[in-house]
Amino acid sequence: MGRGAAVRIRHAGPEDVATLAPLWAEFCSAAGASVPGTSGIGTRVRDRLEAESRSGRPETYRLAIAEHDGQAVGFASYSVVERGILADASAVLVDVVHVASGRRKSGIGSALLRDAVVFADEVGAAEVVVNVPSSDRDLNRFFARHGFGPLVVRRTASTSALRRRLGLDVRVEARDASELTPVQRTMRRRAILGRAARGVRGVAGSGT
Ligand SMILES: CC(C)(COP(=O)(O)OP(=O)(O)OC[C@H]1O[C@@H](n2cnc3c(N)ncnc32)[C@H](O)[C@@H]1OP(=O)(O)O)[C@@H](O)C(=O)NCCC(=O)NCCS
Repeated sequence: MGRGAAVRIRHAGPEDVATLAPLWAEFCSAAGASVPGTSGIGTRVRDRLEAESRSGRPETYRLAIAEHDGQAVGFASYSVVERGILADASAVLVDVVHVASGRRKSGIGSALLRDAVVFADEVGAAEVVVNVPSSDRDLNRFFARHGFGPLVVRRTASTSALRRRLGLDVRVEARDASELTPVQRTMRRRAILGRAARGVRGVAGSGT
């Protein structure tokens, strides 16, 4: 397939997720441990696309499929994200760009990125951001060649590890908390944090 070959990018609906199964499998196997959360990814994407189509609100998620001769040869997944209070505009986060291993280096990845830029323009996002495992040299090179620079180091920790490190021995159950009134929730949070603070003082005090 040459550089000018007709690759068609179209936007997927929930019904397309199953047809992408071989490409998801290839992506998950390539991602391995460097990308946590790949298990059940197809179901999450289908749920998200269904929620989008029901919401009636402006689009905040898109799954793009690259097709060649009617066959899916790549896909990209992107969402509109807020950048926090230090940024004055949202961004489009590209969380996956994947091209079938036998179809690379013919412009498909770049075509998918162009679609992400069009999406960013449509939703008024000022930037396109990508999540790239630092260990994936090819992927990093691909994005660097397209002008993506490193901006922040995002460190991550599971909430269970953080609870251990920070001395929070009680877990707030999400469903329980949502059933509480705002006042009950505040009292419960104070009780948990107060207990953790006393634990920390106890540890500090025991050394003196
Ligand atoms: C990174 C990735 C998306 C790029 O897709 P791609 O379709 O190969 O991208 P492109 O073809 O647009 O560009 C790739 C290269 O081919 C070159 N190229 C594009 N068309 C070409 C052509 N017709 N002839 C020769 N070279 C070409 C590009 O210039 C680019 O070169 P560079 O690497 O030196 O910058 C793809 O390699 C991929 O899916 N990798 C696996 C990523 C993955 O699953 N990682 C798992 C963890 S997230």
